[in-house]
Amino acid sequence: RYVSSSVSSLIGYSQKEFETGGITYASCIHRDDLEMVTQEVNDAIESGKEFLQHSPYRILTKRGEIRWVLDYIMIIREGGKVVSFIGYIIDITEQRIKSEQLLQQSRQAQMGEMMAMIAHQWRQPLSAISATSASISLKSKLNKLDKNKTIELSDKINEYTQFLSKTIDDFRGFFKPNKNREKTDYAKLIDSVLKIIETSIKTKNIDIIQDIKCQDSLTSYPNELKQVILNLLKNSEDVLFDKSIQDPYIKISTYREGSNLMISISDNGGGVAEDIITKIFDPYFSTKLEKNGTGLGLYMSKTIIEEHCGGKLTVANFKDGAEFIISLPANLASSEEDSNIGR
Ligand SMILES: Nc1ncnc2c1ncn2[C@@H]1O[C@H](COP(=O)(O)OP(=O)(O)OP(=O)(O)O)[C@@H](O)[C@H]1O
Ligand SMILES: [Mg+2]
Repeated sequence: RYVSSSVSSLIGYSQKEFETGGITYASCIHRDDLEMVTQEVNDAIESGKEFLQHSPYRILTKRGEIRWVLDYIMIIREGGKVVSFIGYIIDITEQRIKSEQLLQQSRQAQMGEMMAMIAHQWRQPLSAISATSASISLKSKLNKLDKNKTIELSDKINEYTQFLSKTIDDFRGFFKPNKNREKTDYAKLIDSVLKIIETSIKTKNIDIIQDIKCQDSLTSYPNELKQVILNLLKNSEDVLFDKSIQDPYIKISTYREGSNLMISISDNGGGVAEDIITKIFDPYFSTKLEKNGTGLGLYMSKTIIEEHCGGKLTVANFKDGAEFIISLPANLASSEEDSNIGR
């Protein structure tokens, strides 16, 4: 096997080690990404493609460093059989570090918003707890607090506090970025996002319409995907509320399109003005400056979907409003087979 000097210096093994030293390229791919990389190769071979671009993946260098890379591979066939691969690799580690920092910044901004949502969800149970404890105190002063009443009221308080701690758990999960891909599906992701934002949406009388047609699982970064869905829902909520739209709704649909799993989030907020529609994914672009929009929400969403998850995030206006569509590759069939990438 031949590797160029620049690839060998990136990975740290000499060209000789690759040619005769038993080091294969596959053995340099990070364990957690190997299955995905292998599957992408198998898919490309099976579907007769001549050209393959992997989703970003990690390689482990000889010195034990992790580098993120993108690669482009030509699949060479002779008489219908794959005989070799020719490709090149781009080291995208620095880019990823930069976009990581921006993501971090936008995550912090999102955290502020989430605090507001927690406050929203807590108001009702907190006042219920305070009312219940006031009732205990009053009843006891009037000597009307028998054993059964005591149990009933303290159980109630217990129930409310459990709800409070549950919301904290729901939120906590959000800010732990996933290190590795995990199996998940759209329905699960949507559920856990709605748990957090639903109260805030519903108190604004916004209807949430769900049309879940895709039950397929996908292997990706669930917490990051939840952040994206949350961002999109929040944007819809913002536009519907700010423009005081009549009969406001947000529609969440999922469906399959070939080998892609799609989730669409649309609203009847009037859409994105045509003169800014090409800018809304830029970092710091916001039309909500007076209410402290960071303009990082969509930038971060696009980065997560396209650079981390190997998918696409697009926007289009339709009659009533804007529609954002996420497309992600379907689940990698769990392949027990060994990697065949180093052939
Ligand atoms: N559903 C939508 N309908 C109409 N315009 C939208 C919609 N979603 C986003 N936009 C436009 O895109 C701009 C950029 O959105 P983005 O989420 O990146 O930032 P932001 O919402 O302004 O700020 P932040 O996310 O920090 O609150 C918004 O300011 C808004 O003008
Ligand atoms: Mg936003």
